[in-house]
Amino acid sequence: MTPPLLEAVKLVHEFDGGKRALDEASFQLESGEFLVLAGPNGSGKTVLMRHLNGLAKPHSGEVLLNGQSIQEDLPTTRCRVGLVFQDADAQIVGQTVAKDVAFGPENLRLPRQVIEERVNQSLKATGLLGFHQRRPHTLSGGEKRRLAVAGVLAMQPEVLVLDEPFTGLDWPGCADLLAVLDELHRAGTAILLITHDLGKVLAHANRLALMSAGKIVANGHPSQILPQVEQYGIRCPPGELSTMSWRSK
Ligand SMILES: Nc1ncnc2c1ncn2[C@@H]1O[C@H](COP(=O)(O)OP(=O)(O)OP(=O)(O)O)[C@@H](O)[C@H]1O
Ligand SMILES: [Mg+2]
Repeated sequence: MTPPLLEAVKLVHEFDGGKRALDEASFQLESGEFLVLAGPNGSGKTVLMRHLNGLAKPHSGEVLLNGQSIQEDLPTTRCRVGLVFQDADAQIVGQTVAKDVAFGPENLRLPRQVIEERVNQSLKATGLLGFHQRRPHTLSGGEKRRLAVAGVLAMQPEVLVLDEPFTGLDWPGCADLLAVLDELHRAGTAILLITHDLGKVLAHANRLALMSAGKIVANGHPSQILPQVEQYGIRCPPGELSTMSWRSK
């Protein structure tokens, strides 16, 4: 049997003072999936995300990529699993927008022409063409978020994980980001999107997982899981599942 693309197996993570942020958290992401992960503040979503490419190490449990522990090859894992963090500022490393997006591909030592192509493709996909020479700190909040997405896209990851990517984005910004995610999903990238805002995105997902107190407490088709979300403090958007999208028609 083929193993899942990405799998968290009973991850436990405790912080000093005994706070158990992950309490045997397990889930699987199959290739080609679009999984939305929701949970209340402090439930462990961001801590879980940091485990998915080895930025954080579990006290027990493991993360498997194609059935192999990610600890066996962290550099390859970090190319294949791209993380877009909640705090876009923390992800900016380059002095200009173009240099920032080029940073990842340069670390892979790709040929200059390939790097330029990837930078242009990523900036186009995120609506930032023409921003090449801008200093990242002069960008608006929403533009910085797009830049953070562009930097990860340039790595062409197989799994894209985004933590509250709609924060600070206006309606067109959300619609553009959803269009980018749909396109990547169609092209075969697996997507794990962390959000409380189910109304913006759930129509795009084929699966919804809920996290509470460090555990994955529900996991299944969105229509099956939606009736449970309010018991975990997540607002259930009104209307049909198919209308839960901020992508403009
Ligand atoms: N470095 C740290 N030291 C101590 N406790 C931490 C640390 N980082 C996170 N925690 C705690 O771990 C728990 C899970 O945090 P996490 O950031 O994963 O929550 P979250 O589900 O992403 O919440 P939010 O929706 O607010 O982003 C919280 O109780 C948090 O206070
Ligand atoms: Mg978080």
